[in-house]
Amino acid sequence: VGVAKMRKKKIIITIDGPAGAGKTTVAKAVAKRLGFLYLDTGAMYRAMTLKALKARITAEEKERLVEMVNETILIVKKDEKKGMRIWTDGQEVTDKIRTEEVTNNIWWVCKVKEVRNKAKRMQKDIGSDGRIVVEGRDIGTVIFPDAPYKFYLDASIEERAKRRWLEQKNKGMETSDMEKLKQDIEKRDKSDMERELAPLKKADDAVHVDTTNLSIDGVVDKILVYIRKEKV
Ligand code: C5P
Repeated sequence: VGVAKMRKKKIIITIDGPAGAGKTTVAKAVAKRLGFLYLDTGAMYRAMTLKALKARITAEEKERLVEMVNETILIVKKDEKKGMRIWTDGQEVTDKIRTEEVTNNIWWVCKVKEVRNKAKRMQKDIGSDGRIVVEGRDIGTVIFPDAPYKFYLDASIEERAKRRWLEQKNKGMETSDMEKLKQDIEKRDKSDMERELAPLKKADDAVHVDTTNLSIDGVVDKILVYIRKEKV
């Protein structure tokens, strides 16, 4: 038996795709059904963006950003009840990173090499034992290119805007105009797809799932059926 076969295979499931494709809900549900850990990688970029904004660092101040990122202690913990929680420098920021201001500023933080490398080291470390569902933009392509199960979730822009709108409504937030939501999502997709480092794209060996006409359960079932058929 070859060394590769003897090495116990780490089960990592990657879920990538554009904003509003249903990644978070689906990744959480898949992890729950399998008893796996769930890792939201966007939260790491959000946490660093929040800290940069608090320090009044701007998109033009790359040096200040790199310095800040280098000295930031970023910690991710699993909470049995509340799911993944995140801390910067001893302060929990799990809920504070979900603001529109953070969302609108991530693009200039997450394109910086030092920022991505810090996130990459953490993600690789957390995923090293396997039995994990990792959600993001570059997980199947850059972070875990050897993962045995990769999925790329997508949906029409109309459907994704509609989901964001419903999300805002359900959270009791003020809802945005549908056209504005579409524009915001398209803008974010464009910068995620066109950045130089780790751009958003489907890994060649990822399974493409169009979630436009599927329910959450429908997508989760599709993924689980695929995983079971392949192996386990
Ligand atoms: O998934 P979420 O909406 O929280 O991600 C926020 C942003 O963080 C994305 O639009 C993207 O710019 C960035 N991101 C990234 N790489 C990841 C996850 C998120 O660049 N793996």
